[in-house]
Amino acid sequence: MVRTKKLPPVGIIGGSGLYQMAGLIVDELRVVETPWGLPSDPYMTGSVNGTPVVFLSRHGKGHRYLPSEINYRANIAGLKSLGVERVLSVSAVGSLKEEIPPGMMVVVDDFIDLTKKREMTFYGAGAVGHTGFGDPVCPQVAGSFLDATQKLGYSSHKGGTYVCIEGPSFSTKAESRLYRSWNADVIGMTNATEARLAREAGLCYATLALATDYDCWHPDHDMVTVADVLAVMHDNVEKANAILLEAIGKLPERTCNCASALKTSLVTDHSVIPEK
Ligand code: ADE
Repeated sequence: MVRTKKLPPVGIIGGSGLYQMAGLIVDELRVVETPWGLPSDPYMTGSVNGTPVVFLSRHGKGHRYLPSEINYRANIAGLKSLGVERVLSVSAVGSLKEEIPPGMMVVVDDFIDLTKKREMTFYGAGAVGHTGFGDPVCPQVAGSFLDATQKLGYSSHKGGTYVCIEGPSFSTKAESRLYRSWNADVIGMTNATEARLAREAGLCYATLALATDYDCWHPDHDMVTVADVLAVMHDNVEKANAILLEAIGKLPERTCNCASALKTSLVTDHSVIPEK
């Protein structure tokens, strides 16, 4: 008898403007309860061109959750409980560089985390762990995003530092100037938290960031509004979907070190880390 190995599902987290995934044949909507509570939405489980996929809307159906209100721990733990090993995230971001105009994709490779009031670890309450986060993005997943954008001929920026603010208000001009002086590339409100928790959980994680605005620093552009963000996302959602489809098909065999974060974190108790 020929046995075919069942592939682990690929996890997708869609942000503002990407509440479902074109091309995903949905088999089931899975409500998952985790030790950290309920994820933002039921997971859409199904397949894309034969690859098993689990999709989650980060802000929930109808965009119900502010960045500070998202239960990031439940979102990541829920993906892991469904067997996901690699997470591809899509997010709207503001651009902090002239050469990243609205509509351009950035495959982020670093973060500056300025969040202030959210749960950002699975550790605590006696379970002590310190997870290496010096390379916060999975090179294989990021590589698949880059290959996909190049293959499809979309303009993209290889690498970039994402400043993650608490929100929900956008930045002041002085803040925006400060982040530019740090040579950061894009700004958003969600991805550093997701990346950190994915690493603690031993999952691969990378972000396809779609620039929707020039925040508030650019002298020739109006200050960002929600309407701008959603309008640019709306105009580019087909691109983002096409890149996701292509990237899922391009994921190589998993040879990165992301899963070994579990072994190298200094821990007194492994039981806090979400189980498959
Ligand atoms: N998401 C999209 N544009 C943004 C901006 N300028 N600041 C923070 N998050 C954003």
